[in-house]
Amino acid sequence: MQGRPVDRPPVWFMRQAGRSLPEYRDVRAGIPMLDACFDPALAAEITLQPVRRHGVDAAIFFSDIVVPLRAAGVDVVITPGVGPVVAEPFETAADLDRLPPPAPGMFDAIAAGVGITIAELTGTPLIGFAGAPFTVASYLIEGGPSRDLPKTKAMIVREPELFGQLLGRLSDLAAAFLRAQILAGASAVQLFDSWVGALPRRLYEEHVAPHSRAVFERVADLGVPRVHFAVGANHLAPQMADAGCDVLGIDFRVDLQDVDPAIRSRMPLQGNLDPAVLLTDQPTIEREVRRVLASGRGLRGHIFNLGHGVLATTQAEMVTAAVDAVKRFGEPMGEGLR
Ligand code: CP3
Repeated sequence: MQGRPVDRPPVWFMRQAGRSLPEYRDVRAGIPMLDACFDPALAAEITLQPVRRHGVDAAIFFSDIVVPLRAAGVDVVITPGVGPVVAEPFETAADLDRLPPPAPGMFDAIAAGVGITIAELTGTPLIGFAGAPFTVASYLIEGGPSRDLPKTKAMIVREPELFGQLLGRLSDLAAAFLRAQILAGASAVQLFDSWVGALPRRLYEEHVAPHSRAVFERVADLGVPRVHFAVGANHLAPQMADAGCDVLGIDFRVDLQDVDPAIRSRMPLQGNLDPAVLLTDQPTIEREVRRVLASGRGLRGHIFNLGHGVLATTQAEMVTAAVDAVKRFGEPMGEGLR
């Protein structure tokens, strides 16, 4: 991610840890998702599983975008098959009191988990992450997963000041969460703004981008590469690329060659094999991996990834097959870069 020449694009996968791995299902049995996130030894073990099994080039710390909410005392659970559910959704200015500024020690369990992970990784880089203020706000406001984010969008247009105050609080939390991970040893971070593609550019620029930028700026002094990713947000790509990141993550909807040339020539891209391809078979996976590698050729830099997370029903062997294909067919990259 530092733009140095490499023999082939590095590869890791969003949601590489999780339900696609039988060893994950074993260690998680009977333990609620967020409890697992706050158990340092368990979070480290789950983080390491896909590295051992698939030989990916980076680990991503096992956690969740709502971990900072739980750490701040918000009543949130992750319901299997559903996602994060918030007991009392955010509605009025009075609810801001439920999101106090980050307190010292708030992420000690997370930092401890990162520390254990780093010690066991012996050199393989660890990627830390946080949810972007908008995507985390969408769970708080909707009370749970939602396709169209109606309450969130209504708040932006009816009560922009309240929405801004909420995103301000969430950017403080996201920055503190990322700093804890980096200071404990993470060597890159990714900000997931998974659902921001629901917004038109005008609303993104005015009400969201400043808060995502604030998160990136508040980790800038730590000097690690910062990836920015959203789903279905190609219409926001220039603004996302401008928000203070070093790498832009691209979802599966857009061919890497079709990304805005102004972005392609300026920063490395990450992506973007469709996770559905991993539900097929080895020859199909190989062919599709080669297609994505070809579309990444000539980029300023390419980090091979999926266009969104590994699907829960994926066979672990097919994930390994994709990693092997990247290793076999990836070509040297970055000649002429600093
Ligand atoms: O290996 C990795 O990629 C790291 C793990 C990771 C998790 N959540 C673990 C998890 C990451 C990067 C996240 C981020 C996250 N969480 C996002 C952004 C990424 C994206 O997918 O767009 C979002 C939107 C969430 C919120 C969330 N948490 C959802 C939608 C779900 C799925 C609910 C379900 O059961 O289908 C979760 C739960 C979750 N987070 C699981 C995992 C491994 C599944 C929990 C389980 O095993 O039951």
